[in-house]
Amino acid sequence: MIFREATPADADFLTDVLVAAVNWSPEWKEKSRRRVLAAPDTGHYIAGWPRSGDLGVVAEADGTPVGGAWLRFFPADDPGYGFVAGDVPELTIGVVAGWRGRGVGRSLLRAVEARARAAGVRRISLSVERVNFAQRLYLAEGYEVVGAGSRDSDTMVKVL
Ligand SMILES: CC(C)(COP(=O)(O)OP(=O)(O)OC[C@H]1O[C@@H](n2cnc3c(N)ncnc32)[C@H](O)[C@@H]1OP(=O)(O)O)[C@@H](O)C(=O)NCCC(=O)NCCS
Repeated sequence: MIFREATPADADFLTDVLVAAVNWSPEWKEKSRRRVLAAPDTGHYIAGWPRSGDLGVVAEADGTPVGGAWLRFFPADDPGYGFVAGDVPELTIGVVAGWRGRGVGRSLLRAVEARARAAGVRRISLSVERVNFAQRLYLAEGYEVVGAGSRDSDTMVKVL
C-alpha cells in the first residue's frame, strides 16, 4: 500500500470516492454519480478538481487506487456541510468497499493531515452523520464536535 499525492488524473477516482461518501448508508436510496455531481451541495466537493488550495492523498494497492482523502476550502457564500470558516478546509474521505475496515481510512486521514500541516493549514473540518461509524474514527484521531450541522450530523474540527 502506498499513499501518494492526488493529481489532476485522479479526478474520476475521487469522484467515485465522493459518490461513495454521499451514499455511505446502505439504508438510503442511492444517489447516482450524475446526481451527486449535478447537485451543487455535493458536486462542489470535487468540481474543477484540482482547484487552487486543494490538497489530496490517494491510497494505492498494486497500482490500483483503493481510497482517497482530500481537503477543499469553501467560501462563506458557498459553504460545505462542515463549513466553519473560509480558511479551514473541509475533508472528504472514502475507501473502496472491499478495502474498508483494514486501516486504510485511518492511514489516509493521517497522510492528508501531514500534508496539510506541511502546507500551513491549521485546522480541518468535516461533517459526519452521527450514526456513521466514521465518527468514531474522527474522534479517535483528535477531531472534536464543534456543532450540529443538521438534525443528524455533526460538524467536527481538528486543530493540527
Ligand atoms: C469511513 C471510511 C473512510 C473509514 O475507512 P476504513 O478504511 O474503513 O477505516 P479503518 O479501517 O481505518 O478504521 C478506522 C476506525 O473506524 C471504525 N471502523 C472501521 N470499520 C468499521 C466497521 N465496519 N464497523 C464499525 N466501526 C468501524 C473503527 O473505529 C476503526 O478503528 P479500529 O480499527 O481501531 O477499530 C470508510 O469506511 C468508507 O469509505 N466508508 C464509506 C464512506 C464514508 O462513510 N465516508 C465518510 C463520510 S463522513
